[in-house]
Amino acid sequence: MPTDAAAGVRSRQDAGGKQILLIIGGGIAAYNSLELIRRLQDQGASVTPVLTRAAEEFVTPLSVAALSGSAVHRDLFDLTSEAEMGHIQLSRSADLVVVAPATADLMAKMAQGHANDLASTLLLATDTPVLLAPAMNVRMWQHPATQRNIYLLHSDGVNFVGPNEGGMACGEFGPGRMAEPEEMVAAIAAQFSSQGRLQGRRILVTSGPTHEPIDPVRYIANRSSGAQGAALARALRDQGAEVVFITGPAEVRPPEGVEVVRVQSALEMEAAVQAALPVDVGVFAAAVADWRVASASDRKLKKSKDGLPVLEFAENPDILRSVSQMTKGRPPLVIGFAAETNDVVENATAKRLRKGCDWIVANDVSPSTGIMGGAENAVILISDQGAEEWPRLDKAEVASRLAARIADRVAPAPLAEGVPSL
Ligand code: C5P
Repeated sequence: MPTDAAAGVRSRQDAGGKQILLIIGGGIAAYNSLELIRRLQDQGASVTPVLTRAAEEFVTPLSVAALSGSAVHRDLFDLTSEAEMGHIQLSRSADLVVVAPATADLMAKMAQGHANDLASTLLLATDTPVLLAPAMNVRMWQHPATQRNIYLLHSDGVNFVGPNEGGMACGEFGPGRMAEPEEMVAAIAAQFSSQGRLQGRRILVTSGPTHEPIDPVRYIANRSSGAQGAALARALRDQGAEVVFITGPAEVRPPEGVEVVRVQSALEMEAAVQAALPVDVGVFAAAVADWRVASASDRKLKKSKDGLPVLEFAENPDILRSVSQMTKGRPPLVIGFAAETNDVVENATAKRLRKGCDWIVANDVSPSTGIMGGAENAVILISDQGAEEWPRLDKAEVASRLAARIADRVAPAPLAEGVPSL
C-alpha cells in the first residue's frame, strides 16, 4: 500500500489540459482576470469566459474573447446555444468553475441559489467544483451579510482564494483585494491536485438491495434503488480509487471504470466482500436483507388445498459488523449506512457503536421524504466526533462530499492557503 506522501506526489497536477469556466464578475478587479486568462493558457488550460452585465462595464467582451480565443458568453437567453441547453452544457463540460472577481452580489446570489442571469444560472446548474476569488470594498467584505454568505458557501463545499489585505481602488485599506493572478493559478492547480487524492487506495462499496429466494422464481426484496451506492462508487473512482463495487440486483447501472461484482442474496454479498478484502476503506451502502428464508425451496411452491405455505426465516450475516469487528486486517476506515424512519440520530449513533464501524451515514427514509429511490438525499454523518447534519443534496453531491471526507481521512491534503477563516 503506498504511503500518504507517495499518493500525494502521484496525484499532483497543474491546470494543463483542463477546461476552466471563468465567470468574470463586475468589479475593478475584472482587469486582473485578463491576466489570469493569459497565465492559465500558458499552463495549457483552456478558458471559456462568461461575463456578467456589470463586468462589461470594466472589461469589454472583445478583449476577453481576443485573449481567451473563445466565444464570450454573456446572455442567459442566447438562442443559438439555448437550442442545445447552452448554460447547462457550459457548466458541465468544465473541470473547474472559477469566479474572479467574485463580487458581494454574485456571492449572495450563489448562497441563496438565485438563477436570474447567465452567471448565477451556471453556478446553480453546475456539478463541477467552484473556486471563488472575492474582490470588494473592505466594508462590504466585513458586512455580516457577506460573512454569512461566505459561511453558507463554505458549507456548500465552495472553495476560496483570497481576498488579500491592501489598498483598494476606492482608497480604503483592508481585506477585499482580489488574489493576485499567480495566487489564483496556484489555487487552481491545488484544486486539481486535490482531485485524485485516493489514487492507490482500494475501496470496497456494497450497494443495492438483496434478493432472498423463496423458491426458484420468488424472492423477498426491498426498495433500495442502489443510486447512492453507485454515485459513491463513481465519486471514489473520480478521486482515483480502485473501486470494487459489490451490488445486489439494483435498478441503476454501475459506473464505468470500477470492478463490478454482481450478487443476489446477502450470503452471496458476504462471500464477495470477503473475497474483495483487504481494502483501505469499506463502504457498506447496500440495503442487505436482515433475514432470509431458512430453507428456500429448490422447486416452485405450488398452491395446495392443505393451506398456505409458512415461511421460516433465518438471520443473515451482518456483513458490516463482521468487517468492522475483524481483529486482523480490518480496513482502516469502515463506513456503514443507516436508513431510519424515526429518531434518526439516536438510532444511528447506537448502530455505530453496536456494529463497531467508524462512520455511519444516516438518513431518514420515511416515504414522505422521497429519498428511497429518489434523486436526493439528506444525510447525517455520525462519527466519534458526533453528528453532522448535511443539507438535502443531490445523491451525486452527497457522494462527492463523502469521497472528499474519505480522502481527508485516508490521504489528508496539505491545508489550502488563503481560505478565509470563519
Ligand atoms: O442493521 P441495519 O440494516 O440497520 O444496518 C445498516 C448497515 O449495515 C448498512 O451499512 C448495511 O449495508 C449494513 N448491513 C450489512 N449486513 C446486513 C445488514 C446490514 O452489511 N446483514
